[in-house]
Amino acid sequence: MNSSLFITVFLLLCWVSLCVCRDTVCIGSERETLLKFKHHLKDPSNRLSSWNATANSNCCQWDGVVCNIITSHIAELHLNTPFPTFDEDLVPNPLRTFDEDLVPNAYNYVYEELYEEYSRQAFGGEINACLVDLKHLNYLDISGNDFGSSPIPSFIATITSLTHLNLSHAGFTGNIPPHFENLSNLLYLDLSSNEFLGEGMPIPSFVGRMNTLIHLDLSNSGFMGIPLQIGNLSNLAYLGLSFPHLKFLDLSSNILQGIIPNVLENVTSLITLDLSSNQLKGPIPTSLGNVSSLIALDLSYNQLEGPIPNSLGNLTSAITLDLSHNQLEGPIPTSLGNMTSLIALDMSHNQLSELPRSLEKLSSLRVLVLSSNRFSGNPFESLITLSKLSHLDIGDNCFQGVVKEGHLENLTNLSEFHASGNNLTLKVGPNWHPTFQLTYLDMSSWQLGPNFPLWIQSQNKNLQYLAMSNTGILDFIPSWFWETFSPITLLNLSHNYIHGELGTTLMNPISINVVDLSANNLCGKLPSLSTSVVSLDLSSNSFSKSMHDFLCRSQDNQMWLEFLNLASNNLLGEIPDCWGIWSYLVDINLQSNNFVGKFPQSMGSLTKLQSLCIRNNLLSGTFPTILKKINKLIVLDFGENNFSGTIPTWVGERLLDMKFLILRSNKFWGHIPDKICDMRLIQVLDLALNNLTGNIPTCFNSLKFSIFSVVLWLKGREDEYKSFLGLVTSIDLSNNKLVGEIPSELMDLYELRFLNLSYNQLSGHIPGSIGNMRSLLSIDFSRNKLSGEIPPTISNLSFLSMLDLSYNQLKGKIPEGVQLQTFDASNFIANNLCGPPLPISCSSNVKVHNFDHNDKGSDRLGVNWFFTIIILVN
Ligand SMILES: *[C@@H]1O[C@H](CO)[C@@H](O)[C@H](O)[C@H]1NC(C)=O
Ligand SMILES: *[C@@H]1O[C@H](CO)[C@@H](O)[C@H](O)[C@H]1NC(C)=O
Ligand SMILES: *[C@@H]1O[C@H](CO)[C@@H](O)[C@H](O)[C@H]1NC(C)=O
Ligand SMILES: *[C@@H]1O[C@H](CO)[C@@H](O)[C@H](O)[C@H]1NC(C)=O
Ligand SMILES: *[C@@H]1O[C@H](CO)[C@@H](O)[C@H](O)[C@H]1NC(C)=O
Ligand SMILES: *[C@@H]1O[C@H](CO)[C@@H](O)[C@H](O)[C@H]1NC(C)=O
Ligand SMILES: *[C@@H]1O[C@H](CO)[C@@H](O)[C@H](O)[C@H]1NC(C)=O
Ligand SMILES: *[C@@H]1O[C@H](CO)[C@@H](O)[C@H](O)[C@H]1NC(C)=O
Ligand SMILES: *[C@@H]1O[C@H](CO)[C@@H](O)[C@H](O)[C@H]1NC(C)=O
Ligand SMILES: *[C@@H]1O[C@H](CO)[C@@H](O)[C@H](O)[C@H]1NC(C)=O
Repeated sequence: MNSSLFITVFLLLCWVSLCVCRDTVCIGSERETLLKFKHHLKDPSNRLSSWNATANSNCCQWDGVVCNIITSHIAELHLNTPFPTFDEDLVPNPLRTFDEDLVPNAYNYVYEELYEEYSRQAFGGEINACLVDLKHLNYLDISGNDFGSSPIPSFIATITSLTHLNLSHAGFTGNIPPHFENLSNLLYLDLSSNEFLGEGMPIPSFVGRMNTLIHLDLSNSGFMGIPLQIGNLSNLAYLGLSFPHLKFLDLSSNILQGIIPNVLENVTSLITLDLSSNQLKGPIPTSLGNVSSLIALDLSYNQLEGPIPNSLGNLTSAITLDLSHNQLEGPIPTSLGNMTSLIALDMSHNQLSELPRSLEKLSSLRVLVLSSNRFSGNPFESLITLSKLSHLDIGDNCFQGVVKEGHLENLTNLSEFHASGNNLTLKVGPNWHPTFQLTYLDMSSWQLGPNFPLWIQSQNKNLQYLAMSNTGILDFIPSWFWETFSPITLLNLSHNYIHGELGTTLMNPISINVVDLSANNLCGKLPSLSTSVVSLDLSSNSFSKSMHDFLCRSQDNQMWLEFLNLASNNLLGEIPDCWGIWSYLVDINLQSNNFVGKFPQSMGSLTKLQSLCIRNNLLSGTFPTILKKINKLIVLDFGENNFSGTIPTWVGERLLDMKFLILRSNKFWGHIPDKICDMRLIQVLDLALNNLTGNIPTCFNSLKFSIFSVVLWLKGREDEYKSFLGLVTSIDLSNNKLVGEIPSELMDLYELRFLNLSYNQLSGHIPGSIGNMRSLLSIDFSRNKLSGEIPPTISNLSFLSMLDLSYNQLKGKIPEGVQLQTFDASNFIANNLCGPPLPISCSSNVKVHNFDHNDKGSDRLGVNWFFTIIILVN
């Protein structure tokens, strides 16, 4: 080998080894650019500490910087701040459950902490224009930061080298710079989750001209469009023309309206199409079936209607299909059985009616959600072969029939089985051993009883959630049950006929969060409770004896309980004074028991309490001063007890969140304090059947009694309150000793629906402005001393379905109106009224018979208006 060749080879080898073994060294001017850029950026947790001016610092090695290995130019900037992933382990043990709705407090604390941590990490400040000096930058990701509602800096549109631009979730507002279309090399554009111009901006037209794009994400940005449009491309029909290479399009969670056009011409490359959570109407276009490249199609949460087109069956590459939460109807087309690549299929929350047999061909399916439709028949006839299914939801349909062992034997991978709300019967042998191991089982409303189902014992590996409510079980809970399922987090066996005592069984499941054994025949003492329970419902059973042991037993342990419902049992004695360790309680219901004595002082430590219902017991004493401390109360129901004394003025001053104040049927006396009007959110005020005196406060018009969109925490009791939360607004002051006039200010409560002032001693006229209370459904002013005529405006109350003015001193003609004449005459008797519906003409040919000669009640005409019956002569 001659030496020059040797040297050449040697040099070549050195060069190669330098290139390969030594890292690229960044270009000085680009390093300066980055330092300048950093200088303007807010970096609260100093994440860019490696970006420093230390001599020889190689900017290609700085965090988030990637250089081109050949040219050494800076090619990529990864400056995103990922939101920390929710880690179950952060939830205070033992409140870990997969249903966060059930333990809102615990989860909120974790979210708050996560958010704080995230805020400390996120970049902010200014995105300096010096970035344009990075002439070779092709990847820029500044997503997940907080640039304080500034507009997207327009200079970004001049970095034409960009192929990948991610501005997602970065706190941008305002307009998208129009010259973005100059980014003629852009393949990936993600502008999602910003708030461009608040709400309601159409997708800007230049987006339609960015025809190099492969990936376009404009989700969750408040874009509007009528009909669905991208700029001046009148609609998706031309998607294929504008974006010949587009593979990924996400327009979800915007306000896009109108119809999805039925011409989707030449869309040949689209793999993912997400139009979910918009306001799209009309049918699913048949032409969607031609987009044969689709792998993921999501049209959920719109208002799409009509049948599912047969053509969708042609999407044989599709892996996920989500049509849930629309108004689709008719059968699932047989052709969908051709979509044999499907792994996840969601058709829930529509009005679909028929399940085709062909679904049995979807042998790859792992997730199938059919809940809340109108499917009938036995679903397992079609599902029998789907051996890969792990998540099956058939809940809330009209499925009916008998399910046997054979129907379930090939569902060997089933792990979540949601099947409540149907009319199905399970008929299996006593030794049935299912081939699946479930984590989640909800067979509520199946016929499973009368014996406790023994096969459940086989589900002992992973079961976390077990609901068998309303299943006809008439039995004890077997003792193996509590040992077998000690890792369970939710247990719902409500609405059965389960009997026996619970004793210490509820101490066994070490991490149980939710226990619902309501509406059974359980008896004896209340059970001991594991500290992990967050929600306990033992209402409508036959528990008796004192609550003392239950409440006071474990005074050393902090209890996590948030919801406690012991209503409708036979509990006795005083409510024990041991509430100190129960400070997470949000909702307590002790109604309809036999509790006596005073309100316990230690309840003052329940500062998170929002609802307290102790109605229908035998409690006494004055209005508990300790409630001053519980100022988050929204519902307070003391009705049907023996409380006495006055209603303290601080009720209005302290309990400002109150929506339901129910003191009905006690022995409260004295005036209704004016301060009660400070409870601006009140919706139901029920002070009936007490001994209240004085006038009705005139300040009532400062109450809104209006319909709030109530964000409700009353988990598990929604049904009980749903009908009237945000709906019923009522005042009931009946059966007291109130005097004076009906304040005309009361008539300003436009949203009030029920007004009952009966059985008092109110006098004066009915205010003429009563016609303003247009929401009124029911008025009862009977058994007072009201006089004068019925104001004619009352016939404006077009929703009125009940009006009782009987036993007053009203006179004159009953005003005419569609409504009033349809009420029963008994609602007007014992006054001095005439005209329909009373069979008394208002003409002068009236002969008056006084049946009651007590003249205390006579007016100046000498007619007794208390108990008068007037007989028509004509
Ligand atoms: C400067 O950055 C280098 C890495 O690039 C790092 O090792 C060094 O600790 C940093 N110096 C300071 C003062 O942050
Ligand atoms: C943009 O960033 C977000 C959040 O950091 C990420 O979820 C998304 O996948 C990114 N988009 C692209 C196109 O890379
Ligand atoms: C966009 O590109 C056009 C032509 O390529 C050019 O004339 C125009 O100045 C560019 N706009 C911006 C803001 O860079
Ligand atoms: C859409 O806009 C482009 C440029 O702004 C224009 O050339 C084109 O004619 C428009 N198309 C329609 C259908 O208005
Ligand atoms: C769609 O593609 C076909 C075949 O490539 C072509 O003939 C037709 O003109 C295209 N349609 C439009 C509207 O460009
Ligand atoms: C499915 O596609 C085939 C050919 O690609 C076509 O003949 C057929 O009509 C399509 N089916 C439906 C229901 O659109
Ligand atoms: C698709 O489904 C239809 C209707 O069930 C059927 O006629 C057709 O043969 C199927 N096509 C394929 C390719 O399986
Ligand atoms: C269950 O699977 C076995 C084995 O794959 C098969 O022979 C049998 O026919 C299947 N049963 C049903 C009901 O599909
Ligand atoms: C439930 O199904 C049975 C037959 O399996 C039927 O007799 C019964 O009426 C159904 N109940 C309801 C509420 O539909
Ligand atoms: C109502 O109050 C009066 C005095 O104001 C008292 O005599 C009467 O006993 C009270 N009635 C009840 C039921 O408390």
